[in-house]
Amino acid sequence: MPDTIPQLDTFDEPTLEAAFRTLAEEVRNEAAALTTLDAQETFRLHWLGRKGGRLKLISEAWLKSAPADARKPLGIRFNQLKQQVEQALDAPLSLSTHASQQRQTFDISLPSNLHPPGIPHPLIETMHAVVKVFENLGYSVNLGPVVETDFYNFEALNFPPNHPARDTQDTLLIARQHAKPARDRLLLRTHTSPVQIRTMVQAEPPLRIVIPGKVHRNDAADATHSPIFHQVEGLAVDTGITFSDLKGTLDHAMKALFGHDVKTRFFPSFFPFTEPSADVQISCIFCGGAGCRKCKHSGWIELLGCGMVDPAVFAAVTAERTHLGLDPSPYDPARGPDAIRGFAFGMGVERIAMILHGVSDIGLFYSGDLRFLEQFA
Ligand code: PHE
Repeated sequence: MPDTIPQLDTFDEPTLEAAFRTLAEEVRNEAAALTTLDAQETFRLHWLGRKGGRLKLISEAWLKSAPADARKPLGIRFNQLKQQVEQALDAPLSLSTHASQQRQTFDISLPSNLHPPGIPHPLIETMHAVVKVFENLGYSVNLGPVVETDFYNFEALNFPPNHPARDTQDTLLIARQHAKPARDRLLLRTHTSPVQIRTMVQAEPPLRIVIPGKVHRNDAADATHSPIFHQVEGLAVDTGITFSDLKGTLDHAMKALFGHDVKTRFFPSFFPFTEPSADVQISCIFCGGAGCRKCKHSGWIELLGCGMVDPAVFAAVTAERTHLGLDPSPYDPARGPDAIRGFAFGMGVERIAMILHGVSDIGLFYSGDLRFLEQFA
């Protein structure tokens, strides 16, 4: 319905005053009844619409036909009316039950809808940091399955069936595997070492690989144990590799991870798949070796296991490559003086992260508690 604007016969003060008072009254009444955004938009178009809006019609009907001396008072009143309409549009919608349901005005006192950017989990970040140290030495990365066969997790690593060394690994077995041959039975890998075998069966030396990954052991959870944890394994295989290569590599890696003042020392140890085997300790990063509560006053912190690849492992790889129809010669321990040698090492990611960040309970890494995780942002 087109709006009609009354014709003004005269443009004297009382006439203008009366005409604009009526218009102001109209604006006030309409504005007070605005309860929805749709109604507000209709109101805006009704008054300010470029085509057929009331202000446009008023300016056409009155401003253009007004005598010169009436233009100024008319113009002033016209602008006041326009302001009144604009203010009505800026004001919040009238509050009624209906209105509050539909209100979409912006309340700056509400908490904002913040989406903080994500961060890598401290364990993943630590794992990447360790991997990076070895990538910088020219190592490549290999991954293997978490559900592993007895052959890769144990047998090829020189843990014969029923060998007592298996007991130390607290293995979680997959159910209903007994119909299968022993070597094919599935379990949750207890270490990342099976990927040493997988790599050597697939590829020929020289090899330098790091293997980050998740492992499981049937350990009761306490401040330093978790049935799920992570390791980074390393393997270098080539001719002429010696124990001093192993020592130099790990000494460099520990300095790169914990700082250049850190010293390393190697203790005789035992793993079925390395000979000789060693446990590696670093000088305590908290007290610099003087002795403190963290290092149990010894000045040293035990961090990883390592050793020279046992010839029995190369023999198992050689047998498996033969079995698969691959060239068995590269790893054949019977090759004499130019035979392939290698070293391997494995470390726990949680332990490194706990030392680096001063975390005293391993469970915090798995709790999903944002108060803990946010500290790494
Ligand atoms: N796999 C061993 C463990 O989990 C660690 C290790 C890896 C030791 C490589 C020697 C060489 O305890």
